[in-house]
Amino acid sequence: MLSKKLQDAINEQINAELYSAYVYLSMAAYFEDQNLPGFAHWMRLQHDEEQVHAMKLFDFLVDRGARVVLKAIDAPPVEFESPLQVFEAALEHERKVTGLINDLYGLALEEGDYPTQVLLQWFISEQVEEEKSADDIVQQLRLVGDYPPGLLMLDREMAARQPESEETEA
Ligand code: FEO
Repeated sequence: MLSKKLQDAINEQINAELYSAYVYLSMAAYFEDQNLPGFAHWMRLQHDEEQVHAMKLFDFLVDRGARVVLKAIDAPPVEFESPLQVFEAALEHERKVTGLINDLYGLALEEGDYPTQVLLQWFISEQVEEEKSADDIVQQLRLVGDYPPGLLMLDREMAARQPESEETEA
């Protein structure tokens, strides 16, 4: 049986993952507006991944006989200065999420809840990937600087991103 404290904390994390989805969807909207469809595609897939993260936690609560309680999702940022600033914000956001996951893992340890620890180990590894992919793109955008042909080339690369399941199968 999940403790009340852990149930509440996992419900909070569901909200944080849904907020992440919302942040990436807003970033997709920015890129659509900038006529950078490859970046927008990448952000749409990132949005979908965050929905999957939220549902993993949702299903875990259901499987453990706990109540899912959905809360209001904050409005995401809307205005960005440049593609680089978007990815810097994404990286900063993922670092915050890593902190939340680590705190949640700490709580699962305190509560002696082994199944939650196992579930969160997946999230801990996922956060390493999440930070790495945002950071890689930040580095590439820094290299490109204000050179439009470089940005367009990168946009084409971003368009090649596959949904997670296909990435895993590849
Ligand atoms: Fe759900 Fe981007 O971490």
